[in-house]
Amino acid sequence: MALDITVNGTTHSVDVEGDTPLLWVLRDVLGLTGTKFGCGMALCGACTVQIDGVASRSCITPIESVGKSQITTIEAIGATPAGARIQKAWLDREVVQCGYCQSGQIMSASALLVSNPRPTDSDIDAAMSGNICRCGTYLRIREAIKQAAQST
Ligand code: FES
Ligand code: FES
Repeated sequence: MALDITVNGTTHSVDVEGDTPLLWVLRDVLGLTGTKFGCGMALCGACTVQIDGVASRSCITPIESVGKSQITTIEAIGATPAGARIQKAWLDREVVQCGYCQSGQIMSASALLVSNPRPTDSDIDAAMSGNICRCGTYLRIREAIKQAAQST
């Protein structure tokens, strides 16, 4: 079926089954491979994108449920004020290790900064708890989010 979806400000017509996960439309149809596949079951956060600014697991989001919502992916988050601050802090704090989880981490962190511009440690831990990092970069992630929050 043909569906219109808006990703990073551009509307695309995609011809896929309605129950196709958003993740695979992004990666396989639109070529936006910055969003990663980890578990496919909403357990790891690697596939996190923002849907109308809310951090969402694209691996369990059927494309037919997206409607006219605005989807933002890692490829465009740097163009948003919060995303730019998060990405700068990520570089300053050298957060990344292997990198596999990091696009999902950044999408969750930038959504947090918009909804809560001055998060406490417990706010950060709660917001980021669904994003798993096998390299254990959690402390640097927390420090980077705090730096980004203080940089406004
Ligand atoms: S791939 Fe979506 S949460 Fe793990
Ligand atoms: S940086 Fe390697 S899994 Fe997070």
